[in-house]
Amino acid sequence: MLAKQTQSRTLNWLGRQLFNRNDPAAFFDPLLEPINPMWVQEYTPARVEQIIQETPDTKTLVLQPSRRWSGFRAGQHVNICIDVGGIRRNRSFSLSSSPILWQEQGRATLTIKRLPGGRVTNWIHDDLQTGTVIGMGEAFGDFQIPEPARPVLFIAGGSGITPVLSQLETMAATNYRAPVTLLYFVRIEDDVIAREKLQALAARYGALTLHIITTHETDTPRYLCDADLGSIPGINARQVYLCGPKGLMDLARELLHQRGIADTDIHSTFFSVPQADPGNEPLGGQVRFSESKLGVGSEGDATLLEIAEAAGLSPRYGCRMGICHQCSCRKTAGTVINRLTGQASGHGEENVQLCISVPKGPVSIDI
Ligand code: FES
Repeated sequence: MLAKQTQSRTLNWLGRQLFNRNDPAAFFDPLLEPINPMWVQEYTPARVEQIIQETPDTKTLVLQPSRRWSGFRAGQHVNICIDVGGIRRNRSFSLSSSPILWQEQGRATLTIKRLPGGRVTNWIHDDLQTGTVIGMGEAFGDFQIPEPARPVLFIAGGSGITPVLSQLETMAATNYRAPVTLLYFVRIEDDVIAREKLQALAARYGALTLHIITTHETDTPRYLCDADLGSIPGINARQVYLCGPKGLMDLARELLHQRGIADTDIHSTFFSVPQADPGNEPLGGQVRFSESKLGVGSEGDATLLEIAEAAGLSPRYGCRMGICHQCSCRKTAGTVINRLTGQASGHGEENVQLCISVPKGPVSIDI
């Protein structure tokens, strides 16, 4: 009898120890992962069902996330979590499939370009095999098409086509009833991602007009120009969506402004964070991480996230591009420059995104 009571008390105690944890996934995941990686709780497991070589440096991963994933809207991004050389790494990528594929078949695709020197993208291109289970976060981002339908112009460059593919698939599937034009810029013909898919979309979805423009196929570079915009019917009534390298997006915005198109009708998403413009004053400064009781100096355009990591801290982050807000923290004093906008913050208390905030002088952060 006594032995039974002791056994029961022990089991109750053990249960409380396990289930009262703030992060039960941290306890259970190492036990569950070797049995079945799809049971892991810390992130949504997603099995790589197929890998498609789109261009010499771009692959599409067809993923089957576990059904507890919440899905996504066209144009959104996700963080993926993979082990590269024994170190867990997170990166953000755009979903390139329509949400309808997820709803009907439980699948979603990511289209990923190999980046020179990119640890994660190179591993994905060289080592990732079908059948591998990777981690996926919830979708985020607001690069959304207008509802009800309005005429749309997409201007995409290189791998910036990926969220646009998701949107075009969705528009075609839902018969989005407004003119849609895509200007897709690539360096050379071999760089066109999903050419067959785009051509098939243009063939079956009558509202879509597709222009693929190569910038470096000849000796004379061919960039976006006012004539490209002028050839689009009703350009001034369109909602414009930009996704591509910063140079293309800046040029597009400038040309659109010259045509009188306001920023409220221009929507953009980044796939890498532009460098901060230091202006006349140097960037960097002494950063105090108050909760950690740590002070470090910084120079140049290192972000607060990079500075914290270099100091051995592990602040929470997601996209590292200023989109998901997972890295938001309280700044208690000092000025930071927003890398996306070039704007300086105020001097006092406010929330800042660590991944796009560069100190300008001494800064205190609640980490
Ligand atoms: S990590 Fe996503 S906004 Fe900073």
